[in-house]
Order: sequence, then structure tokens, then C-alpha cells
Amino acid sequence: MPSPPPVCLADFADLARTVLPPQVWDYIDGGSGTETTLSANRTALDRVGVLPRVLTGVATASLRTRLLGRQYAMPVGVAPMAYQRVAHPDGEVALAGAARDAEVPYLASILGSTPIEQVIATGAEVWFQLYWLRDRGLVADLLARVREAGCRALVVTVDVPVLGRRLRDLRNAFRLPPEIIAANLPGGRDDLAHGGTPGVTPVAVHGGVAFAPALSWADLRWLGEQCDLPLVVKGILDPADAVRAVDAGARAVVVSNHGGRQLDGVPASATMLPEVVAAVGDRCEVLLDSGVRSGVDVLRALALGAQAVLVGRPMLWALAVGGRAGARTGLALLADELRDALALAGCADPTAARELRTVSMG
Ligand code: FNR
Ligand code: LAC
Repeated sequence: MPSPPPVCLADFADLARTVLPPQVWDYIDGGSGTETTLSANRTALDRVGVLPRVLTGVATASLRTRLLGRQYAMPVGVAPMAYQRVAHPDGEVALAGAARDAEVPYLASILGSTPIEQVIATGAEVWFQLYWLRDRGLVADLLARVREAGCRALVVTVDVPVLGRRLRDLRNAFRLPPEIIAANLPGGRDDLAHGGTPGVTPVAVHGGVAFAPALSWADLRWLGEQCDLPLVVKGILDPADAVRAVDAGARAVVVSNHGGRQLDGVPASATMLPEVVAAVGDRCEVLLDSGVRSGVDVLRALALGAQAVLVGRPMLWALAVGGRAGARTGLALLADELRDALALAGCADPTAARELRTVSMG
């Protein structure tokens, strides 16, 4: 009997689990260590009680949102995620295509399995996400390339000096299928992600060789000077670091713990969001990711002060289940849920939601 169509993003998880090889499911689904942070992300969002306003005269809410000076259909972007062709043969092109259909930003990982030019050719608004390579010349070349190709923003992820210890991947001895390569990095290094080193996953070995671990604020400043694209710093939890990022030229920060995949034991992004928002004020835009699974979660993030959220794993579930059409359905569900949530909270738009009060339901 065919399964009923998904009515929420969680439904895609159940379907994705049936279509993905178990080791790929674990690579996508898993967190680091004891997965304490992974589960804290959900618990923290579930504890955010939003106080709706009544009799506000709002019939239908508008979702339109301005981010980094550009208009988007809703305050949601697709989080940068590596090697999307492990989830579906059409990988990055399908997911970027769905982002284009939904008019939301698509954040392209430097570890994409499709050349960035092909991703941009979908017509999506692409923000390029950088992990800092040891070779600065290569970073400069890559920046010139993405600038030329038409990326709208540069996102630097700062929470991966080394890859978190993903126990599921270690137990599964997970390695990428040979045809899945990091298509935007020079060849050779790619092979590392497919080989076997006892006790370390190939993805971690690859990252360890290619990425520079010892970055500092001076490097971030250098980067901002190299590139005239708006700079976004992803992977901030400490409000003091958010302020430093703004001082170093960031136009936005993403409050994120990498979906619980990096340092296990850090607090949920939603827990730190209000302090970050208070620290930076209106000096930069603040986005949140890690654990967002529904329109109500987006409303919670807005009420805690975020301008927008990024959604990670649910987009890979939807991609795995139905390629571009599946991912488009996932984003459409999220838009429907958010429209309802805003209307139910008495908000005409996402900006109004940022004025809502929250209480802890913990
Ligand atoms: C990621 N994430 C990530 N982040 C990043 O900056 N560059 C990357 O290449 C990747 N790769 C990646 C692969 C996979 C399979 C996952 C699940 C995640 C982290 C991602 O951008 C985001 O921070 C989290 O996924 C957000 O949490 P949720 O929505 O998955 O709970
Ligand atoms: C991950 C890396 C590659 O989270 O960012 O898997």
C-alpha cells in the first residue's frame, strides 16, 4: 500500500529511513559523542512557549523576508550540507532547484558533490559556505570563482576546527561511495574521503587534511577584505563571539551547533539565541539553526529574536524521498505551517513575530 503523502517534515524522515542505506541514514541523522546536544536542540525548542496576540485584525500573514539586502519568500534557508548526492542522485542541483522554486536561499557547502557553477545555474539564490582551506591561495581562487559565478553571500563556518566525533559513522566504518566527490576542491584530496583509516571516518580525514584548524579573528578580517560579498559567520554560540564577528565585518551570524554534530555537550542554539540577539542588537542579522522541524519552530525562533532560520536534515530527507519535487514539497509544507502559525499568533508578518513574548515551558 502506498504511504499517505507527508503532512509535515517528520513524515519525510520516516520515508527517508526506508529509502536510504542505513549507513547513509546514520551519517545524516547522527550527532557527535553521546548525542546530548543533538537531543537538546529539540528539547530546547519544545520548551519555548510563544504567547499569541489576539484580535490583531490579521487575516492572512505575509511571509516575505529581507535578508542581507535581498527579498525572500520566507524567513527560512536551506542549511549548507556536504555531499548531497549521497541522499539522491540529483543531489545539490535538485535541492537548489527546490530552493529556487520556494524562493529561499540555498547555502552551498564547499563540500558539495556538484560543481558550484551547476548549482548556481539552477537560478537559486546561492550563498557559498566556506571551510577554510590550509592553502590560502586556494581560498582566494575559490572566492573569485564563486563571486564570478554569482553567489550572493559568503558563509564561513567556524565550528569545525576538526570534525566532531560521530560515533555512528565510526561504528559503521562509514565511507563515501566512490562516485561521490567534493566537486569544488582540487582532485586527489577527494580520495581521502573514500579510504579507510582505523578509528577515524574518511570524512574526518578529508577535513583534517584540507581544512585549516587554527583560524583566528585576523583571518576572518582578511577574508572580509578579500571579498565584497556579505559575510555570514556560522557556528556561533557565545554572545561575545557574535560581537567579535560583527567587529570583524560580519553582516549576519548563524547561532548554530551544527545540528549537534560538532562539540557534544554545548547548549542548544535556541538556548543561546536570546543572549546573542541582545549582544549584537541591530548591528547584524541573526539566524538560527539546529533542530528546526516545523513552522511553529520557525515562529519560536522569530519570537526569540532571530530574523530567519536554516533547516538542515529535513531537506535531505525530502530530497532522498522525492528529489527536487520532494524538497519543494518539504519547503511548501514549512511555508504553510509558518503562515498558519503567524496567523494563529496574530502576526501580520515575520517582523511582528519578533515582538511576541515567550515563556519557558520547562
Ligand atoms: C551538515 N552541516 C554542515 N554545515 C556546514 O557549514 N557545512 C557543511 O558542509 C555541513 N555538512 C553537513 C552535512 C550533513 C549531512 C548535516 C546533517 C549537516 C550542518 C548544517 O549546516 C546545519 O548547521 C545543521 O544541519 C542544522 O541542524 P538540523 O536542521 O539538521 O537539525
Ligand atoms: C558534517 C560536515 C561535513 O557535518 O560539516 O558532516
